[in-house]
Amino acid sequence: MGRSLVKCLLWGLIVLVHLHGYRGCFEEERMGLLEIKEEFVRSTPNETIINHLPPPRRVYILGILPSWVDDHKSECCEWERVTCNSTTGHVTHLSLHNIWEFHTSSEEEDDYFLYSFNFQDMVWFPNVSLFESLKELRSLDLSFNAIGGWIEHKGFESLLRLNKLESLDLCANIFNQSIIQSLRLLTSLKSLNLSDNALEGSLPAKELSVFEDLEILDLRKNRLYGPKTIQGSENLLRLNKLESIDLNANDFDWSIIQSLRLLTSLKSLNLSDNSLEGSLPTKELSVFEDLKF
Ligand SMILES: *[C@@H]1O[C@H](CO)[C@@H](O)[C@H](O)[C@H]1NC(C)=O
Ligand SMILES: *[C@@H]1O[C@H](CO)[C@@H](O)[C@H](O)[C@H]1NC(C)=O
Ligand SMILES: *[C@@H]1O[C@H](CO)[C@@H](O)[C@H](O)[C@H]1NC(C)=O
Ligand SMILES: *[C@@H]1O[C@H](CO)[C@@H](O)[C@H](O)[C@H]1NC(C)=O
Ligand SMILES: *[C@@H]1O[C@H](CO)[C@@H](O)[C@H](O)[C@H]1NC(C)=O
Ligand SMILES: *[C@@H]1O[C@H](CO)[C@@H](O)[C@H](O)[C@H]1NC(C)=O
Repeated sequence: MGRSLVKCLLWGLIVLVHLHGYRGCFEEERMGLLEIKEEFVRSTPNETIINHLPPPRRVYILGILPSWVDDHKSECCEWERVTCNSTTGHVTHLSLHNIWEFHTSSEEEDDYFLYSFNFQDMVWFPNVSLFESLKELRSLDLSFNAIGGWIEHKGFESLLRLNKLESLDLCANIFNQSIIQSLRLLTSLKSLNLSDNALEGSLPAKELSVFEDLEILDLRKNRLYGPKTIQGSENLLRLNKLESIDLNANDFDWSIIQSLRLLTSLKSLNLSDNSLEGSLPTKELSVFEDLKF
């Protein structure tokens, strides 16, 4: 009797230790995060640019991501900008938003940093394999970082590993239209934010159509325009979960409506600040039965 109680307690202890052990961050993910830090450190802008950062210039004094230290005792799930699932211990959310802390508090300031020569000159190209160890990642925020594209490694194959990624924020970088093609393996995406980049030309309908689970697409503040017929607009039929598309601040004319007509699940369509002339094409708009905005 006494013996089985001891045995029971012992088992309990083992299970407890085991569970506790799982809270630690996974070595592969820890290494992956440190590699990401390294890549950002390598691309840190020079002093001239740093001096344009608003005080107190924490980045300048402490360096970026000061809590991400290469120490086995350091729990990576507690690092700044990292979120893990408390049950599994895997990294699920990573926010690398504005890593150099550009001043973005007001619209004016925002534009200053984005379009000043400094921002353009800072353009850098991270290795596309950088995130491959974070296989449980659900959301990734890389906004405001002056990224111009990826350095390929075996093409873009490593993105296949991010097969749980639902939200990707690439806002305020310097990506051109080739970014959409390079993300094509991220087919689990539900939300893609490419606002404030350097996308040019007509709406890349064919390239977008691989994201069949997409619900939210933000293409605001780019240089896209609408020719009379958008090549491959029939492909948009595959985006039958898309609820919100923001085309604000581009150069579309009303003919874009014709190309979007297959997006029948749309609830929100923002076309403000485009080249829309003449009256509202109410007949064409009537195909969007669920449209609320
Ligand atoms: C954490 O992971 C478990 C197991 O995969 C899942 O059931 C749970 O919903 C996740 N929790 C959060 C907050 O995502
Ligand atoms: C810093 O970088 C900018 C942009 O690349 C360049 O124009 C400038 O000359 C550099 N300044 C110094 C001190 O290296
Ligand atoms: C990109 O990352 C992969 C995997 O870590 C590495 O093998 C490759 O050499 C890197 N490519 C470049 C150009 O640094
Ligand atoms: C787009 O950017 C890539 C780098 O990611 C570059 O190789 C390509 O030439 C650019 N394309 C255009 C049309 O500017
Ligand atoms: C995209 O990012 C910008 C800047 O952070 C933000 O204002 C906008 O709301 C985002 N779009 C969506 C659909 O979340
Ligand atoms: C569309 O964009 C404009 C300008 O940013 C904004 O004022 C408006 O509220 C947006 N409309 C919707 C429905 O999001």
